[in-house]
Amino acid sequence: MLNFKYTMETSRIPGFYKLSVVERLKIIAEYASLTNEEVEALSNFGNLDVEVADRMIENVIGGITYPFAVAVNFLINNRDYIVPMVIEEPSVVAAASNAARITRSRGGVQTSSTDPLMIGQIQLVNIKDPWSKRALILEHKYELLKIANEQDPILVGLGGGAKDLEVRVLDTLRGPMVIIHLIVDVRDAMGANTVNTMVEAIAPYIEELTNGKVYLRIISNLADKRIVRARVVVDKMELGGEDIVDRIVSAWAFAAADPYRAATHNKGIMNGIIAVALATAQDHRAIEAGAHAYAARNGKYTTLTTWEKNENGDLVGVLEVPIPVGIVGGAIKTHPIARIALKILKVKTARELGEIMGAVGLIQNLAALRALVTEGIQKGHMKLHARNLAIMAGAKGEMIDRVVEVMIKEGKIRFDKAKEIVGKLVEYKNSLYSSSE
Ligand code: MEV
Repeated sequence: MLNFKYTMETSRIPGFYKLSVVERLKIIAEYASLTNEEVEALSNFGNLDVEVADRMIENVIGGITYPFAVAVNFLINNRDYIVPMVIEEPSVVAAASNAARITRSRGGVQTSSTDPLMIGQIQLVNIKDPWSKRALILEHKYELLKIANEQDPILVGLGGGAKDLEVRVLDTLRGPMVIIHLIVDVRDAMGANTVNTMVEAIAPYIEELTNGKVYLRIISNLADKRIVRARVVVDKMELGGEDIVDRIVSAWAFAAADPYRAATHNKGIMNGIIAVALATAQDHRAIEAGAHAYAARNGKYTTLTTWEKNENGDLVGVLEVPIPVGIVGGAIKTHPIARIALKILKVKTARELGEIMGAVGLIQNLAALRALVTEGIQKGHMKLHARNLAIMAGAKGEMIDRVVEVMIKEGKIRFDKAKEIVGKLVEYKNSLYSSSE
């Protein structure tokens, strides 16, 4: 029983979080005049247990299911990978699989990465002599690292933990600030919890040491010490000749010079990286934030990849991006599908997962550029769109391809057209049956 009267006019709902999923949904159904079918659809949690969902975030009222696909053909560091991808956008998975296929003849993608080092920031203010306080903090580096490491003996036992401390003096609109960076090897975790616990633990000691005041103590999502690199050589003949190589390099040069294009270029890379991040239940906002900040690290936003033509006239691409991911903790542990995704990937470490994601990002970029410099991306999109329309119009089995074919041939990819073709095909089929009777 609800212990308060809900009025439809307000979003002020005291104690909403204390209610059960069903009770909350009832209120929202009333508020938004949801039909019984809509309530039923929303309360379908798919492959996530309702109790797990309710513990994962607050105020849960339902679930939403995205398609879980796999990209095939990936050869990374001489190993085959089948890559789980979760995304709402058509063509991305097909593009990744196709582009991965054409890289196989030259050995696929090669990757490398740094240790899994994350940065925790501490903002120290009310400091008159920032440079001397910087030196003072550095004099106490090992004590501070020790306090940080006391927060997570398990991580330390695994070879991780707080490894270094850096101190910057920052000029700000509110005067100089001393910014402390705690560098933590987080091993197989994404690391936010560990790092945040550590910076919160050492902050009082820093205040005591400096007589300053600590404000923020939080991880930095510019994870520029946790970098993945991926490199690929693509045979010019696989691309359709050296002209296509030149066009791809020019497309990259455009993006490298122009932030308007670079944002879209990088978006294409993130299509791949984030699809794997979603399949494996990563903090994808952290990955996005880090990637774009990294792309602007030299003061101008630019591309995360470079594309060149080598001495043989083949295409060579390199991606360099921070990829902070984990295979332990958080939703990765609680979401059953994330665990299955990791099993399909057969990864043993977070580092390996990050490198695969980098390889997928690079290949996704290759796929987009190849399409853009040749037929454009709409053709592939329209085919998928036509397919969806055909299915919505009632086509089944072989009829789907037939409807798509006619719509594309006539250049009319619309629902009314799909319905018309389906109608004609059904009529034709019926007439065949009746004449054979
Ligand atoms: C679409 O999701 C991604 C592209 O726009 C990327 C690009 O333009 O490079 C095709």
